[in-house]
Amino acid sequence: MRKLVYYVGTTLDGFIAGPDGADPTGPNGFWPIPEDYVRHIVERYPETLPVQARAALSVTGEGTHFDTVLEGRRSYEIGLKAGVADAYPHLRHLVFSRTLTKSPAPAVELVADDPVDTVRKLKQEDGKDIWLVGGAELAGALYGEIDRLILKVAPLTAGAGIPLFSHKATFDPRSWRRTDCTMLDSGAVVLTYARTTAAVTPAIDG
Ligand SMILES: NC(=O)c1ccc[n+]([C@@H]2O[C@H](COP(=O)([O-])OP(=O)(O)OC[C@H]3O[C@@H](n4cnc5c(N)ncnc54)[C@H](OP(=O)(O)O)[C@@H]3O)[C@@H](O)[C@H]2O)c1
Repeated sequence: MRKLVYYVGTTLDGFIAGPDGADPTGPNGFWPIPEDYVRHIVERYPETLPVQARAALSVTGEGTHFDTVLEGRRSYEIGLKAGVADAYPHLRHLVFSRTLTKSPAPAVELVADDPVDTVRKLKQEDGKDIWLVGGAELAGALYGEIDRLILKVAPLTAGAGIPLFSHKATFDPRSWRRTDCTMLDSGAVVLTYARTTAAVTPAIDG
């Protein structure tokens, strides 16, 4: 069965963006993107580059991991405001929103249904894995459905901001098995973890 994979950039202190909800890697962002980080994405996950980056880098690779991408409305609107209505035309692109009524791009599917139900249905379909872009609110809603975490950990702290999972997510400790770790010279580490079925052992008091 295909997996739901939260493939996301995070600071060392667990933030995916600053408190303003803007693109932290954008022109006025605080998050530098080193050359070896870009190279890693191009070589391993070319399908996760948005269309404008693919064009700039002459990337045409289909990629081997994902054929579907899921975004929360606020993450999607960052690209939309920059004039990109469909950043991932090479993938099936679903945007979750209960407020948008008309899709700005024909190939972008708006979904107002429960993300958990939608993901369970997608997992039953044939295909490659499903990339959960984020942001935190959508990832929080889908926390229990995530099969794999790929954390692109930047050598940065933010102190405050938007966390990996919304503070509104349910407290539900889970254990994960590390399956890959790539250390980049620039200081970033790409960590891959698969969800285990083992229960989390409670801490022993005293
Ligand atoms: N570091 C990274 O790799 C990375 C990746 C992605 C995003 N980000 C950052 O994350 C930030 C945005 O994250 P965010 O948490 O504020 O917003 P988000 O998760 O991107 O979007 C939230 C919106 O998604 C919709 N949504 C969420 N849960 C839903 C549910 N259960 N059912 C239906 N719709 C649902 C709602 O849209 P409606 O209000 O329209 O109903 C909600 O307002 C941005 O700063 C972005 O740069 C970082």
